[in-house]
Amino acid sequence: MQRPSSFEFALNGERCQLALDVLNKYNVPGPRYTSYPTAPEWSDDFGPADFERAMREADASTSPRPVSLYFHIPFCERLCLFCGCNVVINKRKEVAIPYLEHLRREIERISQFVSPHREVIQLHWGGGTPTYLSPAQIEDLFGCISEHFRFAPDAEIGVEVDPRVTTEEQVRLLRRLGFNRISLGVQDFSPLVQKTVRRIQPYEETKALVDLCREVGFESINIDLIYGLPHQTPESFADSVEKVIAIDPDRIAMYSYAHVPWLKKQQRSFEKYIPEGVDKFLIFRTGIQLFTEAGYRYIGMDHFAKPDDELTIAQQNKTLHRNFQGYSTRANADLYAMGVSSISGFHRAYAQNYRDVPSYYEALDRDRLPTMRGWWLTEDDIIRRAVIMRMLCHRVIHKPEIEAEFNIRFDEYFAEERSHLEELQTDGLITMDEEYIRATPLGCVFLRNIGMAFDAYLRRREQDRPIFSKTL
Ligand SMILES: C[S@@+](CC[C@H](N)C(=O)[O-])C[C@H]1O[C@@H](n2cnc3c(N)ncnc32)[C@H](O)[C@@H]1O
Ligand code: SF4
Repeated sequence: MQRPSSFEFALNGERCQLALDVLNKYNVPGPRYTSYPTAPEWSDDFGPADFERAMREADASTSPRPVSLYFHIPFCERLCLFCGCNVVINKRKEVAIPYLEHLRREIERISQFVSPHREVIQLHWGGGTPTYLSPAQIEDLFGCISEHFRFAPDAEIGVEVDPRVTTEEQVRLLRRLGFNRISLGVQDFSPLVQKTVRRIQPYEETKALVDLCREVGFESINIDLIYGLPHQTPESFADSVEKVIAIDPDRIAMYSYAHVPWLKKQQRSFEKYIPEGVDKFLIFRTGIQLFTEAGYRYIGMDHFAKPDDELTIAQQNKTLHRNFQGYSTRANADLYAMGVSSISGFHRAYAQNYRDVPSYYEALDRDRLPTMRGWWLTEDDIIRRAVIMRMLCHRVIHKPEIEAEFNIRFDEYFAEERSHLEELQTDGLITMDEEYIRATPLGCVFLRNIGMAFDAYLRRREQDRPIFSKTL
């Protein structure tokens, strides 16, 4: 079948025209910029002593930043074949017992570096599946965290759950403990897709769980979908999207399927059924079209929210931020992450824990922090991170603002980037004038690519082995 040479779609009420050659040119491997520099650039020489120093510095600052906490619960009962997360699959729930013991030790250590006057404004449990834990374990873990950190009264407290394994008792308990945000994994409702990726999840079960979350008073309910899964078509995905709209969540994360078989071998099992290139884009377009027609705003980087949601308002007020969990409304906080593979992020440093459970246990058993690698940011990293994050969050870079903040002349500092930016402008992804670099409505679909123009490491990196998934 002959493909059209360009595609039309509307984004937040504005019409966009995407030429096929532009789509092909920009649909390349690229980072998601949950950090800058991105994790592959970090160094194995960065160890526990560096992380301790970073935490001491953060705590001793004359204007210490608020605290954000992340806890990684890696366990799932079964493996979804598409999964790209750091998971430990085990039906024997006893495995959580030593894990929680080690997590407690890590909490005790880390909390010593956080002065009691610093408030936690954000807490997130991710995974894996945090509701793999029993109600008693959930209560114990939350109790331990509350003993060691002080929460702001309006803290954002969130958890990721898998509707297939989450019970009413767990949902009521999470809410009672103070969780006010919940994110449910769905991915796709098509029976063929679900069978192929080994994740059978009936619509009614998911809807019932969302209704329960609403009844018990969660302030924000998010649903995760993935576009680009095997056997998906625009028509089949439209059906999943309509079902999600009927459930009426406050936010939607519609992730681009990250195909990384060099890291996750099981993804090869359905490789030949994966929609790619234009086929994948048409599925994405279906999602954008239907969600925005239903009244959701496209925030960027796969995220939608209702017009009165704080995420949408924060984007309008330019107070939106980005960290390892994606977009956030909370001001630049220092992120202390605990659990296997988790990543902490400060003004001047990133630190990642061991990605395998035995190494994580061994470090804590030897009374050490389980830091595997990390990075001290240079002044140049800090400037580029600010520029990239502004584009990803606000879709606009106000040059005088960056100049005042970092005491540089923007056009001189980024002289080498000029030709790359001009190319983005010619292709209709950005507009530029004396003061502003703005993403066009079409550019909002390619924010990762616009960020890449400012990434000093990408150019130096050898492109001989795959690292990132494709941008679309
Ligand atoms: C930790 S899981 C969410 C909670 C729970 N484990 C579940 O699956 O319901 C986080 C989300 O990552 C997304 N995800 C996992 N693997 C992915 C991949 N290969 N590409 C894109 N998104 C992926 C899914 O949307 C998933 O809901
Ligand atoms: S339940 Fe979630 S984390 Fe676990 S394997 Fe499936 S997608 Fe991955």
